[in-house]
Amino acid sequence: MRARRQPSLTLRATLAFSVVAMLAVASAGMYLYETMKGAVMTRSDHAVLARLDHFRKLLQYDLTLTTLQSSPQLFENMLDSEDDIFIIAEPGKPAVIMVNPLHAPLPPMPVVPANMPLGVADMRSGLLDSGVPMRAATVEAVSGGKVVHLTAAHIAVKEMATLAGFRNRILLAVSLAFVLTALLGYVLLRRGLRPLRRMASHAAAITPAQLDSRMDNRDTPVELQQLGEAYNAMLDRLADGYQRLTQFSADLAHEIRTPVGSLMGHCQVALRQPRTEDEYQALLASNLEELERISRMVESILFLARADEAKAALNRQTLDLADEMQRVAGYFEGLAEERDIALHTEGDARIEADPLLLRRALSNLVANAIRYADEGSVIDIRVIESRVVENGRQCRIEVENQGPTLDGATLGKLFDRFYRGDASRHQSSDSNGLGLAIVAAIMQLHGGEVSVNQPAPGRICFALMFPRQPGARLL
Ligand SMILES: Nc1ncnc2c1ncn2[C@@H]1O[C@H](COP(=O)(O)OP(=O)(O)OP(=O)(O)O)[C@@H](O)[C@H]1O
Ligand SMILES: [Mg+2]
Repeated sequence: MRARRQPSLTLRATLAFSVVAMLAVASAGMYLYETMKGAVMTRSDHAVLARLDHFRKLLQYDLTLTTLQSSPQLFENMLDSEDDIFIIAEPGKPAVIMVNPLHAPLPPMPVVPANMPLGVADMRSGLLDSGVPMRAATVEAVSGGKVVHLTAAHIAVKEMATLAGFRNRILLAVSLAFVLTALLGYVLLRRGLRPLRRMASHAAAITPAQLDSRMDNRDTPVELQQLGEAYNAMLDRLADGYQRLTQFSADLAHEIRTPVGSLMGHCQVALRQPRTEDEYQALLASNLEELERISRMVESILFLARADEAKAALNRQTLDLADEMQRVAGYFEGLAEERDIALHTEGDARIEADPLLLRRALSNLVANAIRYADEGSVIDIRVIESRVVENGRQCRIEVENQGPTLDGATLGKLFDRFYRGDASRHQSSDSNGLGLAIVAAIMQLHGGEVSVNQPAPGRICFALMFPRQPGARLL
């Protein structure tokens, strides 16, 4: 089932960036707007207060109400805008002077006594029907012995218009921030994620025949470089595995073709003319030998194939290695005698291992030693147990014999599947070159390893190294 398509990373990150940029610009804008609004309103408050103060003083000293009434330009000039309010009235009487072009209702206000100074705290706010705010204050003044009330108010039409303009600019800046960040973020992210798209198309083009192509990670950003390298390393491993598989099937075909060809050849020759019963028997016997070899090879190959995939199939038991060596040596005694070879065993230890597999590994080594050792020589089979743990290995089984001197390159190839030394190739037809590969696979299943070395010219020593196991007891 196809997974629901998720929104792209580019889109998500771009949106997130843009929202953040928008919020940042909006908060800065709001802050500036509020500061500016405060400054504008304070300025207009001070203008109203100064006006009241001015007229209070004028009336107190030399200006009479009558003069003021007769020359309205005196105060009209003083007003900030044509909508502003200015009222002079004796308490409880109709106004002497009344300027209120918009007939705006005034908020209730305290009256500041004549001898008291005026302050912003004495001002009150009101609101026109149109929503425009006003700021107003009333003071008492004494003019020619009469007490009068002066009221002045400012209607903030201009200020509101300025602030509205400012607000629109902020909105514009916020939208621009959103659009610009979105565009820039989108372009940058798409560029940054280009290696991922390249990797996807590269991976899509990989086929078994094209496993050697690799991603070029040179201009990849650091964050994606690791992924690129892991991807290339994976391709290396795949290519290696695939190459080994191809090689293995080629070897397999080659190895089976030879005995099958020889079987067919023998049969064809035999059928060309009538043969005696003895001749038929000899043919069948030789064919059977060949078939047995093919069967052994198939069995070995099956074993290797299973060992490659199954790790859990180990049936670990505590084994006494002295017993195991005795058992294998006893089994090969007859064969060894045929070549006048003596088998020496020494040492003892207990390990946790699969008994059948351990016997198989040891038998393969001993069979090789008997087959390839010089006639009349001695084969040493020993168990070396080190209490001093070196590389975490603790128990070592060695099989050493006197035989041909091999060069380093040959030693490195002994454990390859189907590898046979020249001697065995010519010498016998029952050598498949799989014995040591099986030993290596068995050791790998046990978490250990097998190695070969030549302690002296003509001496060859194979060692099975078992790792330390928690339950294993030292003798
Ligand atoms: N003890 C040894 N001394 C000298 N050469 C050895 C010894 N053991 C193995 N070899 C060399 O290593 C080669 C590979 O050994 P391996 O056991 O894998 O295959 P094989 O013995 O030829 O065949 P198989 O074991 O499948 O019947 C042998 O052909 C031989 O040349
Ligand atoms: Mg062998």
